[in-house]
Amino acid sequence: MSFQTLALDLRDGLAVLTVNRPDKLNALNDQVIGELGQAAAALGEDPAVRGVILTGAGSKAFVAGADISELASQGPAEGKARSLRGQAVFRRFEALRKPVVAAVNGFCLGGGCELAMACHLRLASAEARFGQPEVKLGIGPGYGGTVRLPRLVGRGRALELLLTGAMIDAQEAWRIGLVNRVVPADQLLPEAEKLMRGILAQGPLAVAAVLEAVDAGLEMSQDEALLLEANHFGLLSATEDMREGMAAFLAKRAAAFRSR
Ligand code: COA
Repeated sequence: MSFQTLALDLRDGLAVLTVNRPDKLNALNDQVIGELGQAAAALGEDPAVRGVILTGAGSKAFVAGADISELASQGPAEGKARSLRGQAVFRRFEALRKPVVAAVNGFCLGGGCELAMACHLRLASAEARFGQPEVKLGIGPGYGGTVRLPRLVGRGRALELLLTGAMIDAQEAWRIGLVNRVVPADQLLPEAEKLMRGILAQGPLAVAAVLEAVDAGLEMSQDEALLLEANHFGLLSATEDMREGMAAFLAKRAAAFRSR
């Protein structure tokens, strides 16, 4: 895989995918969105990849939004098509059955905040700033902001951010539940990797099942979601990994999972 606007580093099952346009604060132009889509598909299919960390190049920004220079000339049909394309790409990350962690290293605005929200977990540098400033530009979010933000932080807090366009700091983002943790800037990637390594040490089939149950379950009725959970619980009972995990616990040793 080679990209013009992304950098990809694969180490020991962990892919670090970096949006790489630091001179434009990693703004998402159509090329970045296209390459993110290709990357999500390839990472999902590659059995050597077990988890993904998504971050931004440079010290200033994770992603400062969709590229305003492209949006400025769009008409309604083009705007809708651009929105649908971006939504589909972000959905690919959210629907991956491998953990995806956003390591938010700076401005995380508009499409950047929407990209981070499509990740499963979010770690923020203490210097990160979050917001959905689209209304300041006379537009609304186009990449899932009105959908994922209320689900993450609740309707009232989401509407405050969406309607004012205000920026909040990392501590406030943590307080309202937008990010999982805040860490010192120089610890962001090591902490993201530590978090991810902790997940990758768990039963991989179980991790994939949990991701699927939460992703699909949130869109179902409670009874349907409970049934999906019970089906996973039963299915995982047929795996070597379950036998290994429980045998290891009883023998007081570390489990050696093999994704079987
Ligand atoms: N789209 C296109 N270019 C962007 C961008 C975006 N969303 N965000 C930043 N840039 C570009 C700037 O135009 C500038 O380019 P230039 O050097 O060629 O002029 C470069 O990135 C650096 O940004 P700059 O504005 O000079 O940095 P700053 O530190 O003064 O301000 C921000 C940082 C994030 C506050 C400011 O860039 C900003 O408000 N960006 C837009 C955020 C936004 O509205 N996003 C939602 C879009 S829908």
